Amino acid sequence: MLYNEPSPLETRVLSRRFGMAHSESIETYLATEGYQAFLKASKMTPDEIISEMKASNLRGRGGAGFPAGMKWSFVPRTSPKPKYIVVNADEGEPGTCKDRVLMENDPHQLIEGVLIAGLAVDAHAGWIYIRGEYRYLIDIMDRAIAEAHERGWLGKNIQGTGFDFDLYTHTGAGSYECGEESALLESLEGKRGVPRIRPPFPAVAGAFQCPTVLNNVETFCAAPAILLNGGAAFAALGIPKAGGTKLTCLTGHINKPGVYELRLGFPVKQMIEEVGGGMRNGKKLKAFIPGGSSCPVLTAAECEGATMDYDSMAQRKSMLGSGGVVIMDEDTCMVKACLRLMKFYAHESCGWCIPCREGTAWLTKIMTRFHSGGGSPQDIGLLGDIAKNMLGRTFCPLGDAAALPMISIVEKFRGEFEDHLNGKPCPYEHSNRMVTA
Ligand SMILES: Cc1cc2nc3c(=O)[nH]c(=O)nc-3n(C[C@H](O)[C@H](O)[C@H](O)COP(=O)(O)O)c2cc1C
Repeated sequence: MLYNEPSPLETRVLSRRFGMAHSESIETYLATEGYQAFLKASKMTPDEIISEMKASNLRGRGGAGFPAGMKWSFVPRTSPKPKYIVVNADEGEPGTCKDRVLMENDPHQLIEGVLIAGLAVDAHAGWIYIRGEYRYLIDIMDRAIAEAHERGWLGKNIQGTGFDFDLYTHTGAGSYECGEESALLESLEGKRGVPRIRPPFPAVAGAFQCPTVLNNVETFCAAPAILLNGGAAFAALGIPKAGGTKLTCLTGHINKPGVYELRLGFPVKQMIEEVGGGMRNGKKLKAFIPGGSSCPVLTAAECEGATMDYDSMAQRKSMLGSGGVVIMDEDTCMVKACLRLMKFYAHESCGWCIPCREGTAWLTKIMTRFHSGGGSPQDIGLLGDIAKNMLGRTFCPLGDAAALPMISIVEKFRGEFEDHLNGKPCPYEHSNRMVTA
């Protein structure tokens, strides 16, 4: 089991079964209130379920932070078309590894969350779209789905409630773009994974052009706790505009990397020092990515007084994103870190939109030259200009995902770019251990 030591500062709601013996089995799940939220929801009307979800202030945990209850309410329940549930388990955002531990340690919680969404929107079938690199999780989820069928928690007339639901796993093929919801749907339908033009949004025309609830794994996993204890109780764990806890992935130059469930609004400094055990080797913090590599980078000064929530990050012109925190210490070369990121985005651009396809490749070429000492002073401005010209000009936000870290690194660490000028090789190379370009 992939599982780190818990921290006493965690608030374990979604992760409360982590570390229990056979936490992935249906026996453990049923012995610890498992599927009770579904039974409760089966006696409620769809509107009542959705209003609990709204009361929870749960915002989507896949990155964009859209309110989950509102998304569920957009599904036209009276449509004659079938409605579907799609779980986004693609987890491609660099720095993010939380959906993996949720599925590995507590797969039935995800199945129960999907069932609750099914009740809320009158859906009777769904898919879990799992990234190709998580092959072993397909086996875990398939086993859990089979167990749920055997015990009557999936299939026809679930536990005598009259509700039918079938759930399937579907593997991606290692494409970051296929985590973007519309490209995911294309891929699920057997087509090339490129984004769709929106509107219509998936709630109206999603899988096979039918109304679809598409959420991240963690978002669905929150639904059982919300229904069981009430939306207000979940909301109270967070801050006024964003309820609950967030599985936060601490990665980088920190003593205790891992996935920790923290209340929304948790102070960044306390997270680094107490939850994560402080900076490795007593080094100073240089840069902080709050929610996966697509978020603008914060400097150590910007982390002062910051909390892990949507508003605090927005005030600092960054994002909470997926909760994939990347911590970089004083020895990190920000030019090299930026080059590494740009290589990722250039490799993962699906090529559908020209600004993203050409922009990411262009940024990577300049950054490669720059890092090796071949950059010119004009390149610094050019990098920012190219990135700004990509922003908002693509069908999906992958172009923005590359442009935002690029812009923030050039703006905030310009001095490091200047240090690479005039034929100088990377001045930080000797101490740069983790970021390999
Ligand atoms: C390039 C790209 C990749 C994405 N990858 C993921 C992913 O791996 N997992 C995920 O849940 N959301 C991902 N998203 C966000 C999804 O498009 C979508 O917003 C999310 O799945 C909705 O679920 P939520 O409302 O529960 O967050 C990605 C978005 C983009 C633009």
